[in-house]
Amino acid sequence: MTRTWQNPLRDPRDKRLPTIAGPCGLVIFGVTGDLSRKKLMPAIYDLANRGLLPPGFSLVGFARRDWADEDFSQVVYDAVKQYARTPFHQSVWDRLAEGCRFVQGSFDDDAAFDNLVTTVADLDRVRGTAGNHAFYLSVPPAAFPLVIKQLARTGLAEPGPHQWRRVVIEKPFGHDLASAKQLNKMVNEIFPEESVFRIDHYLGKETVQNILALRFANQLFEPIWNGNYVDHVQITMAEDIGLGGRAGYYEGIGAARDVIQNHLLQLLALTAMEEPISFNPRAVRAEKYKILAATHAVGPFTETSARGQYTGGWQGGQRVPGLLEEAGFAKDSTTETFAAIELAVDTRRWAGVPFYLRTGKRLGRRVTEIAVVFKRAPHLPFDDTSTEELGQNALVFRVQPDEGVTMRFGSKVPGSKMEVRDVNMDFSYGHSFTESSPEAYERLILDVLLGEPSLFPMNDEVERSWEILDPVLKWWQTHGKPEPYPAGTWGPSSADKILARTGRHWRRP
Ligand SMILES: NC(=O)c1ccc[n+]([C@@H]2O[C@H](COP(=O)([O-])OP(=O)(O)OC[C@H]3O[C@@H](n4cnc5c(N)ncnc54)[C@H](OP(=O)(O)O)[C@@H]3O)[C@@H](O)[C@H]2O)c1
Repeated sequence: MTRTWQNPLRDPRDKRLPTIAGPCGLVIFGVTGDLSRKKLMPAIYDLANRGLLPPGFSLVGFARRDWADEDFSQVVYDAVKQYARTPFHQSVWDRLAEGCRFVQGSFDDDAAFDNLVTTVADLDRVRGTAGNHAFYLSVPPAAFPLVIKQLARTGLAEPGPHQWRRVVIEKPFGHDLASAKQLNKMVNEIFPEESVFRIDHYLGKETVQNILALRFANQLFEPIWNGNYVDHVQITMAEDIGLGGRAGYYEGIGAARDVIQNHLLQLLALTAMEEPISFNPRAVRAEKYKILAATHAVGPFTETSARGQYTGGWQGGQRVPGLLEEAGFAKDSTTETFAAIELAVDTRRWAGVPFYLRTGKRLGRRVTEIAVVFKRAPHLPFDDTSTEELGQNALVFRVQPDEGVTMRFGSKVPGSKMEVRDVNMDFSYGHSFTESSPEAYERLILDVLLGEPSLFPMNDEVERSWEILDPVLKWWQTHGKPEPYPAGTWGPSSADKILARTGRHWRRP
């Protein structure tokens, strides 16, 4: 049961995160990991700093290190000092540190989980966490079932009357449809679906939520948001970094499983979905699911899909190694670091509009964007030479790093001739709003504590996303290797061919 209250410390001008959960605690498994140190601990401090955590909030770390509570607090402190978004305040830190506890053990250690039961019960008594606890699995995917079974065995998954217990699961959620179904079944046997929070941190980003605001709060865009006006949609998540140090996670997973199955298909769903009857979580998720159910990969995959692997090259003036030279990757690894696919959405609104999705490492620039590219005007009453530099109109959601929206359209070039050229009109978060946006993990952790599930994909969305991707993955398995592309470029030539066959081309953001 969710109980909310108004926090007296909260700045009343901050309308973005208006309520906080009642008394509760958070247990993080895998606290020594990268994600925990760089994202989770800083986000918890930032929430505390903004007065959005309840008094008595408690943070329990679970890991194999031989630490006392104070050692764990020191680790949280160091992470906060290094990565927190908001300024450091000693008084906020002192309050947070009072609620830090550490439990030592590995996931197959029954005694450690029994200690966790005692620790959680102590916190309920000493800190007033009232039996409300969220369990964050920031651990390798292979460990998800083990930890969840321990939570069941010890009764930690089972709330008492008027209490809640929630589980937060990091990506990747399965590696294909069959494994995702198996994991969902296992999780749902222990936690009811409303207590399961599957993280897709893209959904916590302000710019991603702005897709729905822009589409459904304005009259301007909706009339043209369909195949009568839209030529195609391109969704790109490009990174300029390589995979040095991440072989353990990435080898055998690849770009499509890592990014397309979750982030990019969620972005597609938000871009293409119908207006929900309200922003009630059930209504939003139902619309997202409907659009995913209508989406499928277009064949033949030899022409409509591409996968690549970066080779050595130059980036930012530095020589960088190829994937096969990175530590931990097999010398003949076939893991793709670039993936692009073409999808169709079989609805009246989107019939005939291709959706192109691409993602990759060591590309030209770090950028995530959704570009809705419009058809050309049916008639241009100008000389051919006047419109040589006129492209297609586009509306671009800039998800990161330069958050905002760009509208591209043709404009007259100053001078005595009627010459038309593309120009951009920009909305930028940094210029229009004085407060910086919360980090995605800030928003998502708070939503877990509030029991607000809108920004977390449900079991059926996750399974449907695998169902969309599985045919392409299976085809790739039996059709050669990823095509090499030099670091610092925009991927393999086979990616360009996907669009070129219909006279289109990828944007170079
Ligand atoms: N890093 C990111 O930015 C990122 C982004 C998206 C998703 N994720 C997901 O988030 C999760 C965590 O990622 P990460 O990068 O933080 O991983 P990581 O650095 O490898 O950390 C994994 C953590 O799990 C602990 N662990 C592993 N096996 C254990 C066992 N048997 N008993 C107790 N503890 C055990 C490790 O403890 P020890 O220190 O004792 O080994 C470590 O704290 C993964 O599911 C990953 O896919 C991460």
